[in-house]
Amino acid sequence: MLIALAVVTALALLAGVAFWWIRRCNPAVVPGSPASRMAPGCDMGQQLLMASGEAGGGGSAGGGGSPGVAKKRQAKAPSRRSFLRTSMAGGFLLTIGGFGGATLAYLWPDLRGGFGAEIEAGDHDSLLEEIRNSGPVQINEARAYLVEYNADEDGADQYADLVGSGQIMALFWTCVHLGCKVPWCESSQWFECACHGSQYNRWGEYKGGPAPRGLDRFNTTVTDNGALMVDTSQVVTGPPRGSNQLGQARQGPSCL
Ligand code: FES
Repeated sequence: MLIALAVVTALALLAGVAFWWIRRCNPAVVPGSPASRMAPGCDMGQQLLMASGEAGGGGSAGGGGSPGVAKKRQAKAPSRRSFLRTSMAGGFLLTIGGFGGATLAYLWPDLRGGFGAEIEAGDHDSLLEEIRNSGPVQINEARAYLVEYNADEDGADQYADLVGSGQIMALFWTCVHLGCKVPWCESSQWFECACHGSQYNRWGEYKGGPAPRGLDRFNTTVTDNGALMVDTSQVVTGPPRGSNQLGQARQGPSCL
């Protein structure tokens, strides 16, 4: 949508520049504008033609058949040079407009949905059952893993504020070391980053490697009709090294 808007804006700019250029180089468009005041940069031959046309036919109103008027008409046609200049300026503006539009579209938070907005992940209870049966559930739109949160395991209530009335915590899947996506390791039951070996337990708490802290996360809420909402508009910084509320040891061989 934003890209389309940027393209339309660039086209409008291009049309505006073309109109301005033609008007600037053609004083006949502005009644009474003398050729001697033509803007610099317009084609010299065109200026001469228009100046001579004005001198030859300026005194006789309605003299459509005079040589001066004929030359004026001839001068109205844009020269090849001015056409090329207009095309080049238009192409340049189009490129700048397209690049700017694409950059804006990339940086602008999508408030209608998608990453950067509040995302409906599905029915809370169904997701919880899926997590219990198959492990963390990946939600691509939120770039997150959903894991079960049990308040009884969180003795210090360190993560209670993140989950509201629900039992699901959303972990940002981006490694806090250098930004790789961290996969879930089935055998160890930890998240293990293949890039440089950082490891996190099931709640995303730091367990090893160069990462400076645990995985970042998102707030979740449960709506009145039972849907789980993941708020990706704000990234909650992960717990510092040493946090170990879950106390989960590695369950098997590492995937690294
Ligand atoms: S990016 Fe994950 S350990 Fe470096």
